Amino acid sequence: MIKKVYIKTFGCQMNEYDSQRILSIFEESGYDKTDDPEEADFAVINTCSVREKPKEKVKSEIGRLKRYKNSNPDFKIAIAGCVAQEDGEAILKENKSVDLVIGTDGIPKLYEAISRVEKGERLAITEFYHDDFTVPIFNRNSSVSAFVTIMKGCDNFCSYCIVPYVRGREKSRHYKEILDEVKFLVDNGVREVTFLGQNVNSYGKTLDEKINFTQFLYMAAQIDGLNRIRFVTSHPKDFNNDLVDLIASERKICEYLHLPLQAGSNDILKKMNRGYTFEEYEEKIFNAKEKIKGLALSSDFIVGFPGETDEDFEQTLKAVKNIEYETIFAFKYSPRPGTKASSMQDNISDVEKANRLKKLLDAQQIITDNLLKRQIGETQEILVEGKSKKDAHVYSGRNRKNRIVNFTSEKSLQNGEIVKVKITQAKKNSLFGNLEVS
Ligand code: 5AD
Ligand code: SF4
Repeated sequence: MIKKVYIKTFGCQMNEYDSQRILSIFEESGYDKTDDPEEADFAVINTCSVREKPKEKVKSEIGRLKRYKNSNPDFKIAIAGCVAQEDGEAILKENKSVDLVIGTDGIPKLYEAISRVEKGERLAITEFYHDDFTVPIFNRNSSVSAFVTIMKGCDNFCSYCIVPYVRGREKSRHYKEILDEVKFLVDNGVREVTFLGQNVNSYGKTLDEKINFTQFLYMAAQIDGLNRIRFVTSHPKDFNNDLVDLIASERKICEYLHLPLQAGSNDILKKMNRGYTFEEYEEKIFNAKEKIKGLALSSDFIVGFPGETDEDFEQTLKAVKNIEYETIFAFKYSPRPGTKASSMQDNISDVEKANRLKKLLDAQQIITDNLLKRQIGETQEILVEGKSKKDAHVYSGRNRKNRIVNFTSEKSLQNGEIVKVKITQAKKNSLFGNLEVS
């Protein structure tokens, strides 16, 4: 009988990509994927430790899964990702039901780990590998849009952030390997790729060949059959004008930029060790907005960082109102062990953090509503990604700004087609329209 693997993913796109790699290794080891843990032989929790909340979820997930061991003594549980990297061996000690702990760099070791665990061993793999970062090409058995990692790790050490500790030093993947992977994906039906890295603007720094992110994107844009390119995350300190010019001139690169500001106050930005002032950030944003027609922006924010005064927070609010992001992701500050900020006094109460978060998100919702309403009447280019389960004539896809657009079409459409849709309605976080028939 074929064995089955269940994978639950928390956290960022990098984790989603890693989960796809993990799944492909399980498939090569004779497993099929299942979405039902009850019928699984192996369950993998790919974890996130960027804030306390996702970390807590891991505990409850282990609790939920371990009951399957009662009905199936051979049922195995693996903890992968950032919590695995951070807590390592301790997870095995504290949770008798966990069989495997595999850190962020350990995925290539998974082939061997699976067979050892199947034989009854319990192990933790948490070393970092400092040699070149290579990832064998693997199939995603997924849709028309794929994530492709171009680098791992981070050397920025923002004072609040655990990523440099759990993902290790920054390393770029060789551009030839990445381009080969993209060509492979395109041959298998992928039309859109999102290049992933903690700081894609420093891509290439660790490679022997002289290549920077803009040059890399230009090469990727030459791949026939690839229609759309996106990338996350840009770091404002390294985001430069060459990249703006390329986005403005290269049709395949979508007019969407995720450029995390984190805070509007220069005092807080300094304490966060972000490496830019608000004024420098604003100048880059205005330059990008001016040159890239129809640019959609998004950003991350942290509220309640140690020492954040009411005035500091007001500056964040003001920044959000002035810049007009289409989307923001905002979080209450959460001290992470070992980071520089964890030694600063976490002096903002949880109630105050929650107040600030609500204020910021409420202000943003008004802006999102307005920006979406302004798109009513536009004809947008949509990459078809699926069909509505409820209505056979309603399809779903994304516009170039990465916004979900549901639309009616009398004509039958295939996933991966690029179509023109006239926007007729703005919903809370999505758009609705009708296929434009030429
Ligand atoms: N507390 C709250 N938010 C955090 N982020 C990273 N570290 C923390 C932390 N300690 C947020 C940042 C980052 C996003 C991925 O998560 O905004 O951009
Ligand atoms: Fe964390 Fe800063 Fe690196 Fe982003 S750039 S992963 S926030 S240390």
